[in-house]
Amino acid sequence: MIPRDTIEKILEATRIEEVVGEFVNLKKSGKNFKGFSPFTNETNPSFYVSPSKNIFKCFSSGKGGNAVSFLMEHEHFTYPEALRYLARKYNIEIEEEQQTPDEVREMNEREALFHINAFAQKYFSDQLLNSEEGRAIGLSYLKERDFREDIIRKFELGYSPKEWEAFSKYAIENGYKKESLVKSGLSVEKDNGQIYDRFRARVIFPIHNLSGRVLGFGGRILEKDDKKPKYVNSPESDIYSKSKVLFGLYFAKNAIIRDDNCYLVEGYTDVITLNQAGIENVVASSGTSLTSEQIRLVKRYSQNITILFDGDEAGLKASFRGIDMILEEGMNVRIVMFPEGEDPDSFVRNTRIAEVLEYLKNNTKDFIRFKTDILNKEVAGDPIKRATLIKEVVQTISLVPDGIFRTVYIRECSAILEVPEQTLMNELNKILRKKAYKKETKEEGVVENQESTDIKVVQKTDLDLNDSSYQERDIIRLLLNYSNDEIEVTEEDERKRPVTRKYQVGLVIMSDLGQDEIVLSHPGYRKIYQEYQKALQRDVLLDSDFFVNHEDDEIRSIAVDLLSSPYELSKNWTNKKIYVPTEKDRLWLTVQTSILALKSREIEKEIAENQKRIKEAENDNDLFMLLEEQKALKEISREINSKLSRIVTR
Ligand code: GTP
Ligand code: MN
Repeated sequence: MIPRDTIEKILEATRIEEVVGEFVNLKKSGKNFKGFSPFTNETNPSFYVSPSKNIFKCFSSGKGGNAVSFLMEHEHFTYPEALRYLARKYNIEIEEEQQTPDEVREMNEREALFHINAFAQKYFSDQLLNSEEGRAIGLSYLKERDFREDIIRKFELGYSPKEWEAFSKYAIENGYKKESLVKSGLSVEKDNGQIYDRFRARVIFPIHNLSGRVLGFGGRILEKDDKKPKYVNSPESDIYSKSKVLFGLYFAKNAIIRDDNCYLVEGYTDVITLNQAGIENVVASSGTSLTSEQIRLVKRYSQNITILFDGDEAGLKASFRGIDMILEEGMNVRIVMFPEGEDPDSFVRNTRIAEVLEYLKNNTKDFIRFKTDILNKEVAGDPIKRATLIKEVVQTISLVPDGIFRTVYIRECSAILEVPEQTLMNELNKILRKKAYKKETKEEGVVENQESTDIKVVQKTDLDLNDSSYQERDIIRLLLNYSNDEIEVTEEDERKRPVTRKYQVGLVIMSDLGQDEIVLSHPGYRKIYQEYQKALQRDVLLDSDFFVNHEDDEIRSIAVDLLSSPYELSKNWTNKKIYVPTEKDRLWLTVQTSILALKSREIEKEIAENQKRIKEAENDNDLFMLLEEQKALKEISREINSKLSRIVTR
């Protein structure tokens, strides 16, 4: 646990542009910074960092927030991980609140596993490169496969001897405990309590985490043996979880960023051979079917994955699931198929590098073409099957989170399949509606039939017309953006002489709305408004930082949203020669109109409610009172509206 005051210290020290700048190439743009979104693959920069507001906003993905939220989005850190990262960056010491003995033990155990793995890796490498058996059997095998020595060293490959307990014995001699050896999976315990080596007579492929520490190993058998598995892998442990690791990512990450693409292959040897050919942006999911955790690991570095497939048809259909999962993460996926009987390893080994690159260039298909090509072969003129095919492709498109991309894909699909765009769009909308409906009913915990959703939608828009969230939104936006700004207003004093007075925007809004005891109806805006009220009772006018760093998710996200209107942010980058009056230049006007617009809306609501009461009045007395009230309300409404029109038409 990080203590509250330390969190505050960290947030105070944090400069958002410095944090984001480590991951995104930012260019100064007026008061702000601008760059390409790290979350999408955009061609026009729409990613902004505002140092004065201490927030970032990405208009292409809609994401936004403070430095902590950026790290959580971009690096997939947890909240405490993000804070720790910032603390390290800004040299702030975290005095951890007391760790429990369990927590301490857990940390030590993980550290012990890393230690043993590092020790084992050195042992296996030493065996491969320096022992007689290792050189004769292991190294000669790798050389036969044309693995160069620099690549063998880079990937820290190794060899484990034939003997049953060569490593286990060596480790015990060097002070490692039997218990930890078994826990790491390097040794296996027999019923009688004796231990032996898990990896024997195998070449060893260490699996690294993102900082290059060894999490576990894969061991490949040397000669074909139908009774033994080709690969033996480390079992799951406190530090190794195969669904959360990608083989090769540690060596690939810089190249993935540089090429803005990650090749995904099936095997350890594919990764290594491609590296040797100079293609370094390559990872393998190694033995498991692809998981969304693995996909998100890549997403830290690029939005683009290209799957390289062996040329066997059997695996192809299985690949569809992987494609869907990548799309669901909002990433782009392309596919390359190798000729029948070749995997990336064999293909690259047998082909000159220039030709490999040429092949990759000419055979990369987007997922729509890939899927339709394969399915088309199966369909072969059967109209019913063809309809199923179309549905299946649209189903995949429906997984893409971004609407603009969906539209682009539909267009392409329409061209390939020669089906009208509108037909595909209808099918897509049907799927999306169904999904939205499922989500809604799941959230509400009720099951209703299809018709009732349509009714619900209608009611919702009705409601929207009645509430004043638009006006409330504008008030909150002004508070967040300009609360502490001063506006000069020329008024008349008691003797009708003009005087210039200064007011703070926040005070003007709060006192004006306070006089009329206005209560906001939108729950999120109300929360923010109440925070301002509470603080004002202590004579404090809050600034936007307070909300951007607020612990309430809803408050935080509203604040970021309203602090980053595209108009506000982009004005700095319009042509400097043309003077565009900004909101700030006519702040007084904006504030006045927004207050009046909200009041006007409130009065309209009261009038409507009163009207209802008039209809339902039970006796003349009540009716009379209500009619009087209605007259008064209408008078106020007229006043507000005439003020509004005076301001607007001035
Ligand atoms: P080579 O045959 O040497 O080219 O190895 P490869 O890495 O290309 O292996 P292959 O394409 O047969 O399999 C792909 C990946 O699946 C491997 O890299 C392993 O991670 C995993 N795998 C293959 N066979 C086994 C096995 O018998 N057991 C386990 N646990 N994993 C395996
Ligand atoms: Mn292979």
